[in-house]
Amino acid sequence: MELKTMLDVQKIRKDFPILNRKVNGKPLIYLDNAATSQTPKQVIDVIVDYYSNYNANIHRGVHALSQEATDAYEQARIKIQKHFNAKHSYEIIYTSGTTHGINLVASGFSSLLKKDDEIIVSALEHHSNIVPWQMLCERTGATLKVIPMNTNGELILSEYDTLLNTNTKLVFVNHISNALGTINPIETIIEKAHAVGAAVLVDGAQSCPHLKPDMQALDVDFYVCSAHKICGPTGVGMLYGKEEWLKKLPPYQGGGEMISEVSFEKTSYADLPHKFEAGTPNVCGGIAFGAALDYMNAIGFEAIAAYENELLEYATAQMLQIEDLKIYGPEASGAKNKTSVISFNVGNIHPYDIGTILDKMGIAVRTGHHCAQPIMDFYKIPGTVRASFMFYNTKEEIDTFIAGLKKAVLMLS
Ligand code: ALA
Repeated sequence: MELKTMLDVQKIRKDFPILNRKVNGKPLIYLDNAATSQTPKQVIDVIVDYYSNYNANIHRGVHALSQEATDAYEQARIKIQKHFNAKHSYEIIYTSGTTHGINLVASGFSSLLKKDDEIIVSALEHHSNIVPWQMLCERTGATLKVIPMNTNGELILSEYDTLLNTNTKLVFVNHISNALGTINPIETIIEKAHAVGAAVLVDGAQSCPHLKPDMQALDVDFYVCSAHKICGPTGVGMLYGKEEWLKKLPPYQGGGEMISEVSFEKTSYADLPHKFEAGTPNVCGGIAFGAALDYMNAIGFEAIAAYENELLEYATAQMLQIEDLKIYGPEASGAKNKTSVISFNVGNIHPYDIGTILDKMGIAVRTGHHCAQPIMDFYKIPGTVRASFMFYNTKEEIDTFIAGLKKAVLMLS
């Protein structure tokens, strides 16, 4: 099967120094992109330049380095705003990543919720989009309800309809399931939540590398993601919040930078976005986040999605030829509702054993419950092997992965 949409993948691969390394004496085949993506030299250069030339604390100094760092950090915020089509740059709050963004919103809603209010999450969530809401329910007396899933790894929207009512205050759903790759119908989920007056937070950790979500078109209230999933560094991410919501939520952390005036009698808070950005931030990370978006946009998200979709279909077709191999989640054919993640098991072989043998061949996949234990409980399995592709993977790598997988299965059967 020939791939139809050809990015210049060989040229793209030259941007990623790590793809040249060997693991266990074999060329690295990196198929754990849903856990973290790799970093192109264009982003690495920005990090080196920052620490070599203008490392400083921001918003604080009159000196040149501080001003250069502040300008670059704020320019990156504008890049993020434009990328996600937020109305205002102050609706973009820098965070340490998706989990931080979710916890910031959950903490803020402690003072806005009361007993008998209801929160809805989906059965497809990562633990980071379950546990903070359980903690919020414990603090407020609100009730947590769950949109169930079907065996195809999709949410049952008719059940969502029955959960929504005027007590529903918040709905939390991921855009794409990290464990299965399901693309959730967030447009419909948002519209229905708004019809009963509930706010919606979308966890975009897995969508941002593959799609280009538009905050204003989605009319979403909160959207969170991490830079390291999008060819940026770890330790930085963003929370998008509609201005009206960010104004309603109290600050998450107290400290420097988030204040307007401080005395021992009373403190007033800074305007957005600084109200939510206490302490010295990850300055370099924010700047590199902007550079990562530049890099991805230069390739183009449409081309990226089309190419990754072809990789997904190519790999799926071959994997389904392997006896006893079961893929969890939506069918890949057509792949309109699935991104480039294949979560699978072969017979009764433990996922960890397959992952360990593949690693010996230089092939990196993730094994386990993928921080989504409720999904594994639904399927009554301890975990899966998960191969996840990015635009820098190739058809040849998939061939090597499939051959390695067959070998591993033979050894373990
Ligand atoms: N949430 C990340 C994953 O799915 C770490 O692997």
